[in-house]
Amino acid sequence: MGKAFISGIFAPLIKQGREMKDYKRILVTAALPYANGPVHIGHLAGCYIPADIYVRYKRAQKRDIKFIGGSDEHGVPITIRAMKEGVTPQQVVDKYHALIKESFEQMGISFDIYSRTSNKVHHETAANFFRKLYDDGLFEEKETEQYYDEKAKTFLADRYIVGTCPVCANPNAYGDQCEKCGSSLSPEQLINPRSALSDAVPVKRKTKHWYFPLQNYEPWLKEWIIEGHKEWKNNVYGQCKSWLDNGLQSRAMTRDSNWGIKVPLPDAEGKVLYVWFDAPIGYISATKELTDKWDDYWCKEDTKLVHFIGKDNIVFHCIIFPAMLKAHGNFVLPDNVPANEFLNIEGDKVSTSRNWAVWVHEYIKDFPGCEDVLRYVLCANAPETKDNDFTWKDFQDRNNNELVSIFGNFVNRTFVLMHKLCGGKVPKLHEDVLDAEDKWIMEEIQNSKFKIQNNLEEYKFRDALYEVIDLSRKGNQYMQKKEPWIVAKSLAENPTVQKSIDNTLHLCLQLTANLAIFINPFLPNTAKKMLNMMKVVDKMLDWENAGKLKLLSVGYSLRAPELLFRKIEDAEVTTQVEKLKSGLVKPVDNTQDEKPVTNNLKPAIQFDDFAKIDLKVGTILSAEKVEKADKLLKLEIDLAFEKRTIVSGIALHFKPEDIVGKQVVVVANLAPRKMRGIESNGMILMAEDAEGKLHFVKPENVINSGSGVS
Ligand code: 2FM
Ligand code: ZN
Repeated sequence: MGKAFISGIFAPLIKQGREMKDYKRILVTAALPYANGPVHIGHLAGCYIPADIYVRYKRAQKRDIKFIGGSDEHGVPITIRAMKEGVTPQQVVDKYHALIKESFEQMGISFDIYSRTSNKVHHETAANFFRKLYDDGLFEEKETEQYYDEKAKTFLADRYIVGTCPVCANPNAYGDQCEKCGSSLSPEQLINPRSALSDAVPVKRKTKHWYFPLQNYEPWLKEWIIEGHKEWKNNVYGQCKSWLDNGLQSRAMTRDSNWGIKVPLPDAEGKVLYVWFDAPIGYISATKELTDKWDDYWCKEDTKLVHFIGKDNIVFHCIIFPAMLKAHGNFVLPDNVPANEFLNIEGDKVSTSRNWAVWVHEYIKDFPGCEDVLRYVLCANAPETKDNDFTWKDFQDRNNNELVSIFGNFVNRTFVLMHKLCGGKVPKLHEDVLDAEDKWIMEEIQNSKFKIQNNLEEYKFRDALYEVIDLSRKGNQYMQKKEPWIVAKSLAENPTVQKSIDNTLHLCLQLTANLAIFINPFLPNTAKKMLNMMKVVDKMLDWENAGKLKLLSVGYSLRAPELLFRKIEDAEVTTQVEKLKSGLVKPVDNTQDEKPVTNNLKPAIQFDDFAKIDLKVGTILSAEKVEKADKLLKLEIDLAFEKRTIVSGIALHFKPEDIVGKQVVVVANLAPRKMRGIESNGMILMAEDAEGKLHFVKPENVINSGSGVS
């Protein structure tokens, strides 16, 4: 390794980020995934890639930072998975913890520790946390009636109760939510509720639990978030505000189960901590495991704590966990919770049960050496402000048109021309012949640092990455304007033009060195390849070097160019789309949205029971989206004898304008229900195909509205 790297001139301070509190250390956490299935690219885009970019950027700034991750190994998703696979919960978490950990490592997610909540230190930490709140008299002890499975002899969490969704008739809705139409449910609302464990009809039984009175923390939370954290991302701030506006309630922090952390009280046999009580404490336990100085990170005011999560975790990280930390009293609170929205795949939401997902371990196998490409696409198209769509075509386009044609092309051209026109060495910069183009690119290099930095400080990773690519685009423009290969043709009659060639290649090389620094947090493997080509040491990637123009020493000989990115061929993306569509992705699903394996047929009914249902043909007169409910459409339906308003959970499947005029079959005598404040009078029948798509059940030919169906 040569000594090519020297410190450069100071870049002028062009623009500073917003005033920032002076933190001594930073603690970054990324949501602990349930160890009940592999991770998919939605997980990566949601929190692991942004967290990793942020951490790598802060490490390059030489900040004292720790990056905490681990598997969430308790809770209902694990036990359902174990039940489905016919193995123990421990076997489930052992298998998936290893697989997830490996996927993260291969994708370059650079945790300082990737722990697991089944570890002893976590069980002790979480139990002590609970015990402290208990000893301080902060829990309410309540006896309530909960569902019990007499066959399996166990209480049933809401998710263990399945039945027919009253909104969309999905026969496998859970007692807390229908995954098909997205409605929040309580077990009481399910039609024909049954236990997911034994199929028995659940009965109510008394049970005691410890509740955390969140409402007591409401005034403080309002002050802390609504007044104190207006800088949080809109999606995060908005969700918190809506929770706080609706009022908080006591929440049970224990469950009846044998899988989890035992409630550390004498009269608590068969009771464990609620998984959402123990999981975030996992961040503390993992830090303890990582370093003896864990309390510097968790207990000192000058720590900046940042939780990276997906949007489904917002309430837990912004409201419940902070209230727990506040109640405990010894811990810092998050400075920010930059949650992302969801990443859909090819126009449809990720569904593990339908295999509608791109699994990270499968991607790594299918595209070896292309880990940075996935990191690139998932950041460039990150769902930072709204749900976004991943398509294989876009993956190919971004790789071929941005990484290959812009970034890779610039670096490659620079190296090829430097070898051809400058003898393979960094040429001199001749200040006397600097022209306007040279000055322009010098300024762009310096300005980029502040644009990229400001975006990263504000968790705008897409914008930051755009600036990096844009700088390489400018490098290509500069090269194109200077055309050193044309200038070289006149060298014989005018040797002084070598100065211009030198300046062009000198600046392109300094730009390349800067690009390595800028791309490093996003695409670390690419940055490594660039370091190798430049024969410089890792230290060059320190952020303080960004924007400098003398990173590579004059006269230093550089290696031959290495291809940074390869083209992705049409056939490769076609294969992936086909694999996705034909469900070839192995069915190793998370059970979170899995249908429990139970007999799908409902118990037999008599003809008289069926005859009670009044089915009528109706015609959709109008359809509109229900505000703040992604999945619901409000339909006006003509039944001839009257017009009906029906709220239906089909918004993800149909555009309102496409279904006006269509005929449907309506359950016309279903008792009215209020959904999102709208009274729904009936239900429309839908059929679901193997891909999970919904289709209207309707007469073969158009007939009069109001016709009976039997
Ligand atoms: O949603 C999930 O996948 C949870 N396992 C996230 C937990 S994050 C933290 F609290 F541990
Ligand atoms: Zn439903």
